[in-house]
Amino acid sequence: MIRKTIIKSTLLVAAIALSVQSQAVPSAEALSYTCAGCHGTNGASTGDAIPSIAGLSSTYLVDAMKAYKNDERDPTIMNRIAKGYSEEQFELMGSFFEAQEVHKNRDQTFDVAKAAKGKKLHNKYCSKCHTDAGIVAEDDAGQLSGNAKLFLQYSLADFHDGTRSQEKKMKKKIKKMLKRDKEAFDLIVNYYVSGKK
Ligand code: HEC
Ligand code: HEC
Repeated sequence: MIRKTIIKSTLLVAAIALSVQSQAVPSAEALSYTCAGCHGTNGASTGDAIPSIAGLSSTYLVDAMKAYKNDERDPTIMNRIAKGYSEEQFELMGSFFEAQEVHKNRDQTFDVAKAAKGKKLHNKYCSKCHTDAGIVAEDDAGQLSGNAKLFLQYSLADFHDGTRSQEKKMKKKIKKMLKRDKEAFDLIVNYYVSGKK
């Protein structure tokens, strides 16, 4: 988790710069500007560490922000950020980002052979809830295809060791998948990072 620590210290500087701005901004669009420094314009992030939030369902985004605020996830930075806003503001952000087009970051590297294997795993174990390779807002289940590699890796690791709570059914599927194939997380992350269906 050394990389996680490095990301954390870099992000802290950005967050401190932004927190001043976030005090007196009322509209949904203005609120979203405070996220852009890390998540990109209108939530379309670049790089492999910060997840895109463009096109996430409002329900998912609001739940995620509440979980960060209440320390129910173990993020590098979002817990500090979420604490600076009210639930009403989360709702405003949710409606703003839901209205944006989903963004796939196609500049990331991935292993083609691993991605092909990962696709099979996804279709077998995950596609029921994560429709269309996991980019459908109505699923209320975040974004998988085209999302940031490190974020996906941490998310899976955090689900697996119980740091981040997950649906019972997903837990079962992940357990089953890992039993069949110890490399499954690596394969499936390469598939998502490929951004392909
Ligand atoms: C300083 C950089 C930074 C800023 C500013 C920032 N974020 Fe984040 N955000 C992150 C990182 C990094 C993650 C991954 C979790 C972590 O490690 O904290 C993340 C994760 C998220 C997630 C979870 C995505 C998912 O798929 O589960 C949501 C939602 C989110 N941020 C919303 C926001 C909103 C809304 C704002 C503006 C109010 C914001 N963020 C501002 C860095 C930032
Ligand atoms: C029974 C439905 C279900 C199944 C099956 C399922 N998931 Fe999920 N998944 C969800 C839900 C719901 C969430 C949102 C959880 C939350 O609120 O944090 C989620 C979230 C995620 C996230 C975090 C996304 C983000 O943007 O933070 C990842 C990564 C993920 N799932 C991977 C998988 C993988 C890999 C599989 C297959 C092995 C899988 N899921 C199977 C329902 C499911």
